[in-house]
Amino acid sequence: MMTGTQQTHPVTLETLHAMCQRGEKIACLTSYDASFTRVLESAGVDMFIIGDSLGMVMMGYESTVPVTLEDMLHYAANVARAGQKAWRIVDLPCGTYETPAQALTSARRLVDEGGAHMVKLEGGVDRVATVEHLVSNNIPVCGHVGLLPQSVEKYGGYKVQGRDAAGAAAILADAQALQQAGVGMLVVECVPADLAVQITVSVEVPVIGIGAGVACDGQVLVLYDMLGITSGRLPRFAKDFLQENGSVRAAVAAYVKAVKDGRYPATEHSY
Ligand code: KIV
Repeated sequence: MMTGTQQTHPVTLETLHAMCQRGEKIACLTSYDASFTRVLESAGVDMFIIGDSLGMVMMGYESTVPVTLEDMLHYAANVARAGQKAWRIVDLPCGTYETPAQALTSARRLVDEGGAHMVKLEGGVDRVATVEHLVSNNIPVCGHVGLLPQSVEKYGGYKVQGRDAAGAAAILADAQALQQAGVGMLVVECVPADLAVQITVSVEVPVIGIGAGVACDGQVLVLYDMLGITSGRLPRFAKDFLQENGSVRAAVAAYVKAVKDGRYPATEHSY
């Protein structure tokens, strides 16, 4: 068994902002357990999202909607116990941030019991008061715009967002409102690459893309998608890095290098 002893300088939000300013891409993956966390850190991942995608890939749900705060605490604590270096963002699951006060109670548990460095919530203009409340209580927040998986029932499936002018303008406005409210980072999911460019140039905080083209300040993938072990059809934006690289560690190192070099996502992974 490998133990995590080699990492000494933790990645901070300042580190990530500095990388963004000097044009160094941020390589992020989801993680949900201790062993993968150690391998991913040793392969150079800068940041983890302990995403509520765990409801689908770890727990077998059809969507992220049934995931509870207790579920998130369990998986986040797994990662926190093993993590030595990478920045850790933990999702506020569906229904746990309906009001600013509820969001603060939930977020404090993710930080105190789940070892979160930052919490992530889905939404835009409608979440401004919540983000302001969290930030004014010293909870770092990452916004999540574009496709919002917790609202999948409203969209009728996982569909690219912002394809028409009105939809694109609304997502851009969401990103700007969240920055104004104080988020320290943004995830942009499943939008056309040219919209992601507009978002990335119009906000100062790092923009992490998933299905949003190569221009974002960094990239994230669901770990099991990039290892090609997700059941069903892989989304267009995902790439199986394990197929060409022989081991999990080599696959993750290849992903990190491809992100840093701006070779992933390629055009065929973008909308
Ligand atoms: O739940 C998740 O995995 C996410 C992705 C954007 C990484 O939020």
